[in-house]
Amino acid sequence: MTHPMRIGRSDFNTDVPHAITGHLPAFNADPLWFLTDCGRYNRGVLSLRILHKKLFLLLEPADIEQVLITDHRNFIKPEWLRTPFVNRLLGDGLVNSEGPVWRTRHDGCRHAFENSRMERYAEMISELSLQRIDTWTAGEAINLQREMTQLTLEVAGRLLFGADPTVPDWVTEVADALDTLMVCFGSRYSLFGMGPLPASSREIRAARRLDSVITNLISQRLEQSGSDSQSFARQDLVSMMPGYQCEGSDRAQLHGQVKTFLGAGSESSSVALTWALVLLAGHPEEDARLYTEVRSVLGNTMRSPTLSDLTNMPYTRAVISEALRLYPPLWMIGRQAIEATTIGECAIPAGGIVMTSPWLMQRSARIFSDPNTFRPERWLGSETESIPRGAYFPFGAGPRICMGRNFAMIESCLVLAAIVNRYQVEIPRDEPIIPWPTVTLRTPHGLRAQLIAR
Ligand code: HEM
Repeated sequence: MTHPMRIGRSDFNTDVPHAITGHLPAFNADPLWFLTDCGRYNRGVLSLRILHKKLFLLLEPADIEQVLITDHRNFIKPEWLRTPFVNRLLGDGLVNSEGPVWRTRHDGCRHAFENSRMERYAEMISELSLQRIDTWTAGEAINLQREMTQLTLEVAGRLLFGADPTVPDWVTEVADALDTLMVCFGSRYSLFGMGPLPASSREIRAARRLDSVITNLISQRLEQSGSDSQSFARQDLVSMMPGYQCEGSDRAQLHGQVKTFLGAGSESSSVALTWALVLLAGHPEEDARLYTEVRSVLGNTMRSPTLSDLTNMPYTRAVISEALRLYPPLWMIGRQAIEATTIGECAIPAGGIVMTSPWLMQRSARIFSDPNTFRPERWLGSETESIPRGAYFPFGAGPRICMGRNFAMIESCLVLAAIVNRYQVEIPRDEPIIPWPTVTLRTPHGLRAQLIAR
């Protein structure tokens, strides 16, 4: 059964901003529709207003490259990444720091993502995938997004701490807190807290729960390194972070960084995997082709795929690339100008906020043929070879490009192959699957999926 995919449709006219709130109501009513509608201008820079703030939406790949890559020194992370909401969700870490603080954090953590480590990570990812898949039974209906969140959290936990943390129920607690924060954010769209609505007590409680679990995870990890000199050689991600084994404000810094990696390292990957499986559920031919590839590599076994298997699985990678194109987990990436400048013919004032949208660009008919169709094979030939960097950027671009991008691609391909080898996923609904643009681009909250044994 195929599932129609559509975005909602807002009654707001994006051309006519509200006298006081500007484009905020139209954006809040339906952010994806708003962006898609802006795309009809097709070129240049679109000037928008959110309350009293001016925002500039980029519609040209070359302009996106200018902001994220060539002129990156003049474009820092926007103020919305420093709002209390984002702080509750991500903390103060690599994603929202700047200057020398960012450089120190970046250079420490980057070693965790060296190619030489990927084989070991791949083993770990496959082991954890099988463990989770073993808890499923054929015919069962699962909350796919929730399952993927828990799995990618387990993976992030191992990456951070080198072993499975033994803090009771930490995965469920963190997944619950992330879910609640996503729902709260979704129910008071305000462009990442730039709008006037205050946080609810539910949001504050979820953030406190998240912080308390992270404090316990860090304490447990530091106790282990105190009692076992071997673990100093563990070289897990936490041990590469500035603030490791320090007290006071440095410990707070470590807290922020662990929170960033738990959030950034699990949420986007789980969203990408969920969308890939939902897309496959609606496209039986592509699903069958993927299954054939996985079976041809793994044979008639339930063994988990390895890193070297992935070189023989180009279609698996193409499915992930295509899911990231159609449903980029980070559907908007913003920057803020330090000094006044120009982009194309548009003057950007000092402090001006510049928005780029993978959602918008990656569905542009100027760049992709049949842009709204799920067609993984477009990634197999020459069709996508010359796409500009500012037209397909699910991991961002330039110096602030996703640090975990290679890890995430390996993780997504391995988990997808392990699931497809065992189960066909069906979405037992006729209704359209409307993407839910909260902080990330999630599938509808609570979407159930049926597992059919292969
Ligand atoms: C499919 C999965 C993923 C997607 C689509 C994704 C996407 C992104 C994007 C778009 C950015 C840049 C944001 C910006 O420019 O403002 C980013 C940054 C980042 N991501 Fe990912 N990410 C994924 C998985 C991961 C994983 C698995 C990790 C770590 C284990 C990770 C860690 C980070 C970090 C630390 C940054 C900040 C880098 C910096 O500012 O220096 N991400 N990610």
